[in-house]
Amino acid sequence: MTASSSSPSATAILFLFSIFAGVALAQVPAKDRFKYVNQGEFGPFITEYDASYRATPLFGSPYQLMWYNTTPGEFYLGLRMGLRRSESLFRWVWDVNRGKPVGENATLTFGTDGNLVLAEANGRTVWSTGTANKGVVGIKIVPGAGNLVLFDKNGRFVWQSFDHPTDTLLPGQSLRLTGPSKLVSRKSEKENSDGKYSFVVEPKGLALYMAASPKPLPYFNYLGAPFGRLAFTTPSNITFLPEPESDDNFAWELKLVQNNGADILARPKYNASLSILRLQLDGNLVAFTYYEPVDSQAWERTFSFFSDNGILEGCELPSKCGSLGVCKDDMCVACPTPNGLLGWSDSCSSPKDGACKAAAGAAYYKVVGVENFLTKFVKGQTVKLDDCKKKCSADCKCLGFFFWEKESKCWLAPTLGTLNQVSNSSHVAYIKSS
Ligand SMILES: *[C@@H]1O[C@H](CO)[C@@H](O)[C@H](O)[C@H]1NC(C)=O
Ligand SMILES: *[C@@H]1O[C@H](CO)[C@@H](O)[C@H](O)[C@H]1NC(C)=O
Ligand SMILES: *[C@@H]1O[C@H](CO)[C@@H](O)[C@H](O)[C@H]1NC(C)=O
Ligand SMILES: *[C@@H]1O[C@H](CO)[C@@H](O)[C@H](O)[C@H]1NC(C)=O
Repeated sequence: MTASSSSPSATAILFLFSIFAGVALAQVPAKDRFKYVNQGEFGPFITEYDASYRATPLFGSPYQLMWYNTTPGEFYLGLRMGLRRSESLFRWVWDVNRGKPVGENATLTFGTDGNLVLAEANGRTVWSTGTANKGVVGIKIVPGAGNLVLFDKNGRFVWQSFDHPTDTLLPGQSLRLTGPSKLVSRKSEKENSDGKYSFVVEPKGLALYMAASPKPLPYFNYLGAPFGRLAFTTPSNITFLPEPESDDNFAWELKLVQNNGADILARPKYNASLSILRLQLDGNLVAFTYYEPVDSQAWERTFSFFSDNGILEGCELPSKCGSLGVCKDDMCVACPTPNGLLGWSDSCSSPKDGACKAAAGAAYYKVVGVENFLTKFVKGQTVKLDDCKKKCSADCKCLGFFFWEKESKCWLAPTLGTLNQVSNSSHVAYIKSS
């Protein structure tokens, strides 16, 4: 009787013991634990966004984890790319806590349980990897790749920063249909929160979006992809990969690798393994390559999505001419006004920008031979000119509309931006003037 009743509990004790033993085995060794405090002098070098910074010891060439700020007292923990030796700009290529700044004396703790925790000085947790007791035994920044990883005793990545991109893809990093599926631009030089633009992998290809109400507007997608570039025949994930073109290593390729092949973005004629793909503040998608052997100006812009040797022309970038401007050959050449085309400056804007009077009796002025991203990437409605006008007049958020006279195609414009000059004079824009 006694024997049979004690046996199950003995098993339970053994079982519990083995769990504890397992946890004990998976602890972070004392020498690898740390608590970094955000305090002390700022570093002396020039970094992107003119940020001040304090280094942490976490380093994997040429990346280092740092506290940095562009506004006093609002710190972000981010990955800085570049080496001191090169005397070139340092770039911020990943953020731990975008949009959630911490203050002086904030802490980053990597404890026994394998959780990486960012907390305010008063102990309030701001962010963590959520990896407590999941077998994590160490942390590192993978050299070359810039992936911050928490790994288990078999070297498997339990958590990786590659799964949480901000605005930049690093060498070997992927966007997946199942997520993470996008990059989001930074709000401004000063403000490190989500900006207006996103770069997204979708089942039919890659897309660029601008935030708008009621829903984001595409300024690139498969509908207007030249030669089907960055469009998919079957759904695919993508990986940003700099690779030598051939064994002799003369030229390198910056690729977006898909399931069926790859799209080559650029071919730098030197070792371009340290390249990044960035969704910029202005919505352009740009690759920068860091070439270690040179002593100054180690960065080169090796690809620009909206440019002569990119995927679309410079004039197709919605933000190119600020809130309004006519663009030709990569230059903003005119400001359309009710009195005709005037010289362009960055103060050019539509009369209705920011205002919303009673919709009835709205007046418009016409600009001939222009298009913008809407006519290429958004499906227009087939309606008569007067009906298109009425729809815009009834909509307080409508700043004007694009109209193709031959087909009677109408696109209401909640944003105008760059008007790309085209030779076809039946493609026109009507801008609301009152
Ligand atoms: C940060 O902590 C130090 C002590 O380690 C203290 O002297 C300093 O006043 C603290 N700074 C702030 C802004 O709380
Ligand atoms: C994309 O990647 C995810 C995760 O690695 C995988 O499960 C999925 O099958 C991939 N999808 C495609 C279409 O390759
Ligand atoms: C390219 O440069 C990287 C970083 O400096 C280096 O690790 C790699 O070996 C180089 N690759 C080749 C093929 O030379
Ligand atoms: C202008 O575009 C329309 C389609 O909107 C097309 O039917 C017409 O042929 C084009 N005209 C010229 C001169 O390219």
